[in-house]
Amino acid sequence: MQLSVLLDAPRCRTDGSFLIRDVPGTSGRLDVVCRVLLSTFRAVPELCSNLQFFAVLGGPPTPPLQLQVKDVAPKALPESELACSIILKTLLYQLRKSEQTHHKNWPEFSLSKKGFAETLKEEAPAESHIFYLIERGKPLEEIPVSFEQPMLIVLGDDKGLPKDHEEILYQYKVQEVSVGTRSLLGSQVISLLLLNLARCLNTS
Ligand SMILES: C[S@@+](CC[C@H](N)C(=O)[O-])C[C@H]1O[C@@H](n2cnc3c(N)ncnc32)[C@H](O)[C@@H]1O
Repeated sequence: MQLSVLLDAPRCRTDGSFLIRDVPGTSGRLDVVCRVLLSTFRAVPELCSNLQFFAVLGGPPTPPLQLQVKDVAPKALPESELACSIILKTLLYQLRKSEQTHHKNWPEFSLSKKGFAETLKEEAPAESHIFYLIERGKPLEEIPVSFEQPMLIVLGDDKGLPKDHEEILYQYKVQEVSVGTRSLLGSQVISLLLLNLARCLNTS
């Protein structure tokens, strides 16, 4: 079983020049990236070894960049959103200064110069299931779920997926999935979806 989460973060800065004391106000919402990342790996610790997380950062000065986080042990996660922001700030600085793509102390965290379309092309091979998390979608219970194929779960930041990225996404066979009609935070949505998927896995 392989589960990937892809967060589109089109305004998120692609360098480390933001203030740790005001991440939401100065980074193009790296705080959203950190929260969704932590929720992804914390929701169901037993799923950690099957999970990888991607965020495509599309903000200034040198977009796009793909953040990838994988091979995470549940006990070796950054302990807070702040700790996660500091790791990402260092990683972004390292890339600019020395083209170093992996964090020196957190090798699970890496960056590469890939955008939304390229990430989808690589992470959604023909046989994979793509779930697009969106309020208008179908509840997970109404969707046949198979854990034999790779699964890619796509969600937007606090403003949702931009139109041009939605158009790229719909070039694939996509299933719209909802965790309720109310618009929730991305971090809440990913937790709910992973908990539901784990329940399906345990009963299948
Ligand atoms: C804070 S929401 C964005 C809300 C934004 N106002 C919008 O119009 O899309 C962040 C992301 O979580 C997902 N999301 C939010 N509520 C959801 C729900 N009830 N079901 C499924 N996905 C949801 C969507 O992918 C959304 O882009």
